[in-house]
Amino acid sequence: MESKRLKVVFTSLERGDRSFFSKALRDFNLALFEEGLSDIDISRIADADILSVFVFDKVDRKTLEKFKNLRLIHTRSVGYDHIDLDYCKEKGIKVTHVPAYSPYAVAQHALALILALLRHVERFKARTRNFEFSRDETLLANNLEDITVGVVGTGRIGGSVAKYLKVLGANVLAYDLYPKKELADLGVEYVSLEDILRKSDVITLHVPYTPQTHHLISEETISLMKKGVILVNTSRGGVIDTKAVYEAFLKGKISGLGLDVFEEEEVLIRKEYGKASSISLMLLELNTKDNVIITPHVAFYTRRAVENIRRDTLKVIKAFVEGDEDVLKAFSVKHTT
Ligand code: NAI
Repeated sequence: MESKRLKVVFTSLERGDRSFFSKALRDFNLALFEEGLSDIDISRIADADILSVFVFDKVDRKTLEKFKNLRLIHTRSVGYDHIDLDYCKEKGIKVTHVPAYSPYAVAQHALALILALLRHVERFKARTRNFEFSRDETLLANNLEDITVGVVGTGRIGGSVAKYLKVLGANVLAYDLYPKKELADLGVEYVSLEDILRKSDVITLHVPYTPQTHHLISEETISLMKKGVILVNTSRGGVIDTKAVYEAFLKGKISGLGLDVFEEEEVLIRKEYGKASSISLMLLELNTKDNVIITPHVAFYTRRAVENIRRDTLKVIKAFVEGDEDVLKAFSVKHTT
């Protein structure tokens, strides 16, 4: 396939990505956008052969129907729940992602949230900022060796979180459809989801967003948790029912909340406040509380991870041009529905 004739469209680029891809793919017919897919007039890019998107781009049927020649959609992310895979399958459009640009980057951010919440870093910061440098017995913390952390989803990222926590001395419970012997050998104890909910002082979420994991954390599952549990989510916003978590936090059932991902995150990240619902309002209120830390979907955001995403994206496009099915297969999404 001749690269010059291929139209490649990138959306949701950062400035650094833009200069990288414009150099690396100068032989292609390129269209590079910092805007998201929903802000672009699709008629300008309807002739794209390859579309590369990011997590905030909703690649739904309605949008996809406007494209005439699309043969590859590549998301520069691990998760691909924002792409209508059924439509792509129907139309023979390949879908690729970057499965392992750096699970450690995401795991380390989850760990940062867990430790900051456990040690009341935000609360102490609020106190010292107000010239209050005394201690406060209500903020007495627990050592990691004295608590139980429940890891939900022990794939690349959750598995790394479990290992880190084990090395740091925590008692680690895990739940996954496919337990890993390697983790069990390290002393990570696989249990049922119910046991994770009932026994954990900290729960950290690392499952993909699928119909099965939609609102996995709900009023019902929260009712099984320990009072004062700390909840951390670096997976996808939809894994948590925001309203249930909001109410549980206000009642003190959840005592610490670390969210790198949240429902309606594109609304807040892109400041599209006109599209905000009560979910965004609940998040904004939660974000005023001391033991809530909300970060804007940046768990992946390290130099190494960003470089790897760019490198792997080039690999996929090159493989597509060269018809290298082995490489394309390695980056293909798993279509489970
Ligand atoms: P992975 O595919 O390696 O691991 C996912 C694990 O979840 C697998 O072990 C799988 O068996 C398990 N799982 C799937 N459905 C389940 C269910 N219904 N119940 C129990 N376990 C289930 O994926 P990886 O790399 O660990 O990423 C996990 C998620 O993290 C991604 O899908 C993505 O949504 C999110 N992510 C977030 C980032 C951020 O910046 N906040 C960056 C990268 C990924």
